[in-house]
Amino acid sequence: MKEKLQEIHSKALNDIESINHLEELQNIRNIYLSKKSELMSYMSHMRNLSGEERVAFGQLINSIKEDISNKLEEKKKILEEAKLQEKLNSEIIDFTLPGKSYSRGSKHPFNIIVDEVSQIFIGMGYQIAEGPEVETDEFNFELLNVPKGHPARDMQDSFFIDETNLMRSQTSPVQAHVMLSKHGVGPIKIISPGKVYRRDDDATHSHQFGQIEGLVIDKNINMGNLLSTLELFAKSMFGEKREVRMRSSYFPFTEPSVEVDISCFECGGKGCSLCKGTGWIEILGAGMVHPNVLKMCGFDVNEYQGFAFGVGVERVAMLKYGIDDIRKFYANDKRFNKQFNKE
Ligand code: PHE
Repeated sequence: MKEKLQEIHSKALNDIESINHLEELQNIRNIYLSKKSELMSYMSHMRNLSGEERVAFGQLINSIKEDISNKLEEKKKILEEAKLQEKLNSEIIDFTLPGKSYSRGSKHPFNIIVDEVSQIFIGMGYQIAEGPEVETDEFNFELLNVPKGHPARDMQDSFFIDETNLMRSQTSPVQAHVMLSKHGVGPIKIISPGKVYRRDDDATHSHQFGQIEGLVIDKNINMGNLLSTLELFAKSMFGEKREVRMRSSYFPFTEPSVEVDISCFECGGKGCSLCKGTGWIEILGAGMVHPNVLKMCGFDVNEYQGFAFGVGVERVAMLKYGIDDIRKFYANDKRFNKQFNKE
């Protein structure tokens, strides 16, 4: 019987030795150590043995049982270790492989110009004001001295949403918003960059484009202040040598009104294809704030005066960078967009 037990013992050790997968462990454990196993069935023989023999036999079975159990534990550890190692090997990270390249976007030329112009005016003590893109007829036109039926409305063919609301056709309504918020007390010194909408569509006009409005209201403001402000702007934006000239013009909300030209930065004023031989390039509209606008927006015209100007964002960018088609601004072509970044 002893031999039989030793035979089972060595067979068990062999079986344990040949286990290759963790899943087989339980199976082997069942075969050799479960209550129904061959080894355990020998327990019932103990009854027939004398006292001493019974003790020796019991010890033998127990030691075999313990040994098998220990060997199973050892095997389990070895297999777990091997499994972990295999997992680590399969997940190895090769730091020498080239990384995925994410192409970097760049600031849009539209925003480059808005930021550059903003910085110039912030440097002169201006604040940034914003207004809604969906405007009322009152703010887009009436408070700017353009009553219903006024012919100047034709110049800004607009997108009306209903009788009273429209996509603003200019940033000038921000003038009225800011003035009304001040309840007749100056000074005001703001610029307002933003999108505007008109029924326009060709190489230099888009149904949506950007403007930057400027407004200064204070006591003793005159045309000289406007001219020197715009001169400083033109030189900062287009180079120290730029000169500025004003031509008389008409806007309903300014009186007098001017169209402002800068000396051509391409030819220096001699005349070339960019300035169409004139030596001058038109860049913006401006003027002294019309007394009617001041009054409607709550300012005392005997105390306060002001000037205003409006400049087209894409127009400045097109001049500065030599861009020939406004539609390129909205095509979202990375190859176009990234040409203008200095960083
Ligand atoms: N709002 C005018 C336009 O869009 C520009 C302008 C602004 C003119 C302020 C004078 C003063 O044409």
